[in-house]
Parts: sequence; structure tokens; C-alpha cells
Amino acid sequence: MSQDVWSAVDNYICGTLIAPDEALAAALRDSEAADLPNHNVAPNQGKFLYLLSKMKNARRILEIGTLGGYSTIWLARALPAKGRLISLEVNPASAAIATANVARAGLKDVVEIRLGTALDSLKQLCEEAADPFDVIFIDADKRNNPAYLEWSLKLARGGTAIIGDNVVRDGAVTESSSADPNVIGIRSFLTMMRDDPRLEATALQTVGSKGYDGFSLAIVRD
Ligand code: DHB
Ligand code: MG
Repeated sequence: MSQDVWSAVDNYICGTLIAPDEALAAALRDSEAADLPNHNVAPNQGKFLYLLSKMKNARRILEIGTLGGYSTIWLARALPAKGRLISLEVNPASAAIATANVARAGLKDVVEIRLGTALDSLKQLCEEAADPFDVIFIDADKRNNPAYLEWSLKLARGGTAIIGDNVVRDGAVTESSSADPNVIGIRSFLTMMRDDPRLEATALQTVGSKGYDGFSLAIVRD
């Protein structure tokens, strides 16, 4: 089994279960035209994040790492009318593309994109005493995942779901002596989730059109 099979199955799954959607297709088109990295989640992964957020009856979602706003649109669509999604992005070019993509999807009153380093924006959210988030999606520079988890816990409540993208990295996550800062970041992120008595966590490997990777899922205990 290899990439060709994974992609064919993802095409089949997306063709079968995910309705064509002009706003999402345009978000991908404009992200690519602007040369943003091709690191958006796959459509079936986006819908998975959307369904998880619906399962949580999420009213407030925090996304760390906006990129072109593709997962932002999926997540924001899970929110009720008065819901709120705050997404943190360090790259002004990405934030501009994402802002346009979110507006075209009709979500500009629901989504707030904050420009700046995620660490600064997370500190700012805490200083503002932001209401707790129901779902937190961590998908930025993986080396900072441990710090993102610490801040996320300050912005969470009992029951908050914390989802991490790209925790498998073609299997590199098993390399205990890796010098890759992304692998080091993910490994200590997973270890922190194991050791923190406030959290219950797991992780799943995924294959598909985006290659071989995985998600982590943690829930904050009540
Ligand atoms: C990378 C980052 C991502 O968030 C992703 O989904 C895939 C790849 C990366 O930095 O390589
Ligand atoms: Mg990712």
C-alpha cells in the first residue's frame, strides 16, 4: 500500500461523502496561487474536524495556525449563529489570504484572525481573560507545540477538546534521538499530555492524500 492507493481512496471518500463546495475550493485555489505551503488539511480531515466540533456543541473555537484558512472554514461552519472562532497566524500574507477566504465563505462575522506570533496572541488572550474555548486545534510550527499546549490549558475548561495536527510525520515521531525540532516538539507535546493529570489523550495515524501523518486528541478533565 502506498501513496497512490491512499490518494485514490481519499478521492473516493471525498467524492462519496463530501459535497463539492465553491468556497472551500476557492480557498485552496487562492492559497496555491499565493504560493502558500500545501499544508492545509484534506477535505475529509476538514470535515472530521467539523464533525468533532459539532459533537462538542462548540460555541468557541481556537485555532493555532491559520495558513490560508481552509481548516478555519471547516471549523467555523460547525459553530452556531453566535459562535466565535479565533485563529492565530504569524505570516501577514497567509492572514490576508485567509481573511479573504473566510469572507468569501460568509464567515467574517464569526471568525477573527489575529496576526502575530501565536505565543504573543495566546498571552494576549489570557490577559484579556477570554472566555474558555470548547475546541482548540493546534496546527502551527510544531516545535512550539509544548508551549501551545500550556497556553491552551489556560484557555480551556473541563471538557475542552484539544486536537493536534501532524503528530506522526511519516513515522519520524518514534525517533527518540531526532534532531528535527518539529519531531522534538511533537514528542514532548505527547509526553506532556501523558503526564498532565488534567488531560486524557490519544493519537491516531492517518494515511491519505496528504501522506502519512496523524492527529492527537485530548480532553480536559472536568
Ligand atoms: C507541515 C505542517 C502542517 O501543518 C501540515 O499539515 C503538513 C506539513 C510541515 O511543516 O511540513
Ligand atoms: Mg497541519
